[in-house]
Amino acid sequence: MNVLQFKDRFHKEYGSSNNQPIHCFFSPGRVNLIGEHIDYNGGYVFPAALSLGIYGAIRFRSDNLIQLKSANTEPIVSVDLKQPIVFNEKDRWANYPKGVIKHLLDDGCLLKGCDILFSGNLPDGAGLSSSAALLVLVTFMLRYVGGETNMDRVGLAKFCQQVENQFMGVNCGIMDQFSVAMGRQDHAILLDCDTLQYKYTPFVLGEYSLVIMNTNKKRELADSKYNQRRGECEAVLGIIREQRQVASLCQVSFEDVEEYVKDDVLQRRARHVISESRRVLLAVELLGQGDLTGFANLMTQSHISLKNDYEVTGLELDTMVECAIKRTECIGARMTGAGFGGCAIALVATDQLELFTVAVSQEYEQKTGLKPDFYVARISDGVKAIDCSS
Ligand code: GLA
Repeated sequence: MNVLQFKDRFHKEYGSSNNQPIHCFFSPGRVNLIGEHIDYNGGYVFPAALSLGIYGAIRFRSDNLIQLKSANTEPIVSVDLKQPIVFNEKDRWANYPKGVIKHLLDDGCLLKGCDILFSGNLPDGAGLSSSAALLVLVTFMLRYVGGETNMDRVGLAKFCQQVENQFMGVNCGIMDQFSVAMGRQDHAILLDCDTLQYKYTPFVLGEYSLVIMNTNKKRELADSKYNQRRGECEAVLGIIREQRQVASLCQVSFEDVEEYVKDDVLQRRARHVISESRRVLLAVELLGQGDLTGFANLMTQSHISLKNDYEVTGLELDTMVECAIKRTECIGARMTGAGFGGCAIALVATDQLELFTVAVSQEYEQKTGLKPDFYVARISDGVKAIDCSS
């Protein structure tokens, strides 16, 4: 659907009699190139915003209701700005905008009634951050139409992380919201999650393309297992802190883990976190030198660490990555995002993309019974207003 079709759809859903202007926005999904389960451990991550994402259109109305509709999914939800706003399982996806509205009101923002329509081309539950895309989109839209057209984007990311933590109950880190708010076309972001200092790095792949491989395995129980991993990391940090002062798990040494952490599971969790944060810095250096094979190798090592030590992959992601890396046209692959299903990424020779997707698709389906999807990633800007005036 292009912008004009989207606007037409808005008129169909909400009518044309209200002559307030319609404002349109786009918010991207993200892919994390390397640095997984690191953001909440104070280390480095290396994500980028995608050209796939969610469109949003908004128009003021004359009462105190915010109407929320999606062109892709049910239900339609109406939020009364004068009533308490609470999480409701039945509202499904609309809990994200509800959370934003509640937190904006709590922060003293003056919100007015409006009609909002969303339409996305981002597969949800696929580890491409559809939830962060939606949270950042709604916050950006509501603040933008309220007159804040030039907002602090790091603050925007932090606000949305807080909504996800507090309203949705998912104890996520800052990486997804940061990538969606701060993305830059053809660049990845090296983000220090401890200080939130960041640096844009040109994402130049030469003869290769970044392929997103959707396992089409939904991320069941992902949130509870995610919170469990976070708890395990906090447990390790607690043990180390009985011995010495340390700011975050990424700053702990392998020697300290071996000496003080006796539990095998906790040891492995820590080993992933410490090695992964180091891999990120090395990967960024290799990419800067144009060493794509070296970069891709680290991607594969990252997957192995997430599989064996962090245990967040599962049959589908492992099968997908194994099918990919055995092909000569692929130089490296790994899961991306939280794991437990969702997407993997691979660096593949551009002139052999067709051969690659057909072969991997066949073998993956034979082994798992699931049909995968493939997308060639384009790296785009963060959330933005788009012109839909004509
Ligand atoms: C999810 C979370 C992020 C991050 C990744 C794993 O996407 O929202 O904060 O922890 O998992 O790297």
